[in-house]
Amino acid sequence: MHIAMIGAGYVGLVSATCFADFGHDVVCVDKDPNRLNTLRGGKIPIYEPGLEELVKSNAEAGRLHFSDDVGSATGRADIVFLAVGTPSRHGDGYADLTFVYEAAREIAPHLSDFTVVVTKSTVPVGTGDEVERIIRDVNPAAQCAVVSNPEFLREGSAIEDFKKPDRIIIGTDDQRAQSIMEEVYGPLCANEAPILFTGRRTAELTKYASNAFLAMKITFINEMADLCERVGADVLSVARGMGMDARIGDRFLQAGPGYGGSCFPKDSTALTNMAQDSDSPLRLVETTVAINDQRRRAMARKVIRACGGRVRGRRIGILGLTFKPDTDDMREAPSIPIIRTLLDAGAIIRAYDPAAVAGANNTLREIEICPDPYAAAEGAAALAVITDWDEFSSLDLDRLRRQMDPASTVLVDLRNMFDPARITGAGFVYEAVGRGDLIGTGATVKHAAE
Ligand code: UDX
Repeated sequence: MHIAMIGAGYVGLVSATCFADFGHDVVCVDKDPNRLNTLRGGKIPIYEPGLEELVKSNAEAGRLHFSDDVGSATGRADIVFLAVGTPSRHGDGYADLTFVYEAAREIAPHLSDFTVVVTKSTVPVGTGDEVERIIRDVNPAAQCAVVSNPEFLREGSAIEDFKKPDRIIIGTDDQRAQSIMEEVYGPLCANEAPILFTGRRTAELTKYASNAFLAMKITFINEMADLCERVGADVLSVARGMGMDARIGDRFLQAGPGYGGSCFPKDSTALTNMAQDSDSPLRLVETTVAINDQRRRAMARKVIRACGGRVRGRRIGILGLTFKPDTDDMREAPSIPIIRTLLDAGAIIRAYDPAAVAGANNTLREIEICPDPYAAAEGAAALAVITDWDEFSSLDLDRLRRQMDPASTVLVDLRNMFDPARITGAGFVYEAVGRGDLIGTGATVKHAAE
């Protein structure tokens, strides 16, 4: 099949590369000349494990091409995917659909033979209808079906998510489009990846519903973690016990500093706005958004409490800045509001992250980015782990502690990634999330009574 992928951003690039890897002929179109040059040079402009090798091998095999020519890519395509950004509109939290509609206008004149136009970007319900209206407006003779096929890729494991999906959602009533979509996902169907065919609006909503539910699940366990601290229970075991119930499932029950990233925050807000506008407010999701917002600052206060309530003029070392490991993405990273709150309380921040780009955010310009975790620990009254990068589990704990202010060797593990006995054994005072079971064991600082 011939595929045009409009947008060589995260979703577009991963999807284009994986489709090429299935044997399809894919042209990935983008307007940014620097991005195209990087890609043509065999490098990728984003951080995603395994992607660069896959781009290179498929480009060398002649199945994956990069171009700025929407017209010729669309003209020869059986399927055109729209994988452009849908950022949060400034000020009101609605999804900004400018790029989607612009792409629809650009492809429209080139849709001659029957072509399936697929929205891959996360878009509010009804966007497919508008894309179809625009196409028919620009080119009344266009032969096409507009389909919704949302992506469920997680940064850091996007290739695996693409190739071994839990499900593929395809929203269209058009029989011809259905069989073309089946063919494009053929190799996955052979692996028995379930395809769910739905109406277009249903597919659009399913994506939002899935993300909002996962955000809610995380927020639920985060609140449960707070309660665990008050009542002397262990959130890890609570989550394990809950997860053993197949109706609940054990994934996305890791308590932490709150969810971040390019999807959950933006999509949850866009969904609640859409629901409000439809006179059907989603109160659970609205509350989830509010709780998650407050949580980041609450985590900063937890660090301050662990330092005895005072951080003015004292150093705090931060380990991990990205919104999760295996990405360099700083969008909506909990580290930013946490650091902001600590800076406002007068702390001096030194941070280390294996991938975050220095200066990616204004707040980061006010802190010192260190070349390694030990430098971040220098003279620190406390260390706070905000992102659970694998490499932190092999830290030399003695060396780390020796770097710190000997009067205060607190390690606040906001991801529960460490074994408390190992950390206290190395001479740290350990503070975790939702480990009320540790209170009174000497493993943790006293905070429950506050
Ligand atoms: C998410 C969805 O998982 C994916 O299906 C969708 O297409 C895009 O958004 P992503 O943002 O890459 O993917 O990351 P994800 O792994 O889902 O994590 C999102 C946030 O939740 C991160 O900040 C992560 O640290 C946090 N999280 C996740 C938790 O705090 N606890 C968990 O148990 C799981």
